[in-house]
Amino acid sequence: MAQTHLILGASRGIGYEFTSQLLARGHNVIATQRAATATGSKLAALQSQYPGGQLAILECDVSSEASILGFVARVREALHRETRTRAVLDVVVLNAGVLVYPNRMSELSFANFSHHLTTNTIGPLLAAQHLLKLSQPEEAAHKPVDIKTLVFISSDSGSTTNFRSFEDGFGAYAASKAALNQGLRHLAAEVHRKHPNPPVVLALHPGEVTTDMAANVEVDWEVKGVIGPEESIECMLKVIEEKGAGGADEGGRVSMAKDGLEEETGAATFWTWDGRRYPW
Ligand SMILES: NC(=O)c1ccc[n+]([C@@H]2O[C@H](COP(=O)([O-])OP(=O)(O)OC[C@H]3O[C@@H](n4cnc5c(N)ncnc54)[C@H](OP(=O)(O)O)[C@@H]3O)[C@@H](O)[C@H]2O)c1
Repeated sequence: MAQTHLILGASRGIGYEFTSQLLARGHNVIATQRAATATGSKLAALQSQYPGGQLAILECDVSSEASILGFVARVREALHRETRTRAVLDVVVLNAGVLVYPNRMSELSFANFSHHLTTNTIGPLLAAQHLLKLSQPEEAAHKPVDIKTLVFISSDSGSTTNFRSFEDGFGAYAASKAALNQGLRHLAAEVHRKHPNPPVVLALHPGEVTTDMAANVEVDWEVKGVIGPEESIECMLKVIEEKGAGGADEGGRVSMAKDGLEEETGAATFWTWDGRRYPW
């Protein structure tokens, strides 16, 4: 059955590939870019291949609170036409991110550090917060929107327990993803306490993927297991299906019991593109 997915940060790279593969599978996609009116964008070209309204393009810049609020209001409007009493976003993927290389802690400017934290941590978490509020609208005329699975594209660089000290030049990036990880875990726990139907919250590491982000980085360590966006997204869609709402291992609960781990109520879980549980 066709689902509705929202991909935030879909103009290129991993977000674009998510959009493209989901459309090819027959799903409806709301995809964002920073300038939605930009004709000639990759997303606009993709939209012309799916003329039946399967792809809606909205504008969102996660570094601006006004932009996030405007975008969330447009998501609500776009879903108002749904025939169900409560509209559904099956999967929301918070993918937008930056890596301005190098970003060493010993050299970093205030502006560069802020840029990483704003785009990789604050923006995605605030966008998620406002999207989640759509399930309990303040105005009676607004149709509630439930999110079933909420996915944050994180990074193995943001793991604190599997610290990657060799990643020279990744200080602010790693700190921003570590803060994202901790923030999304709290968000999951809070939402579980507050919401009647809380979403399953997942963090995903997409692998070492050949996008513009990777192309702009000259590292002096060996990057192992580099994959293309197609493979990364094909695998991540499998993980989302399995670990997301309604999946065979929803929220990692089945594998948790098998691995002898204790279940934590309302906990988010962290996975690699190929389905391995990753340490926070
Ligand atoms: N590539 C990898 O190996 C790798 C590894 C681990 C994690 N990741 C994570 O995967 C995600 C996607 O990365 P990628 O490799 O696809 O990078 P990318 O090719 O550089 O794409 C980044 C995407 O984020 C968007 N974006 C940047 N700043 C934004 C903002 N302020 N508001 C909204 N959108 C914004 C970009 O839009 P514009 O076109 O407007 O700039 C673009 O669509 C990131 O969160 C990244 O940290 C990537």
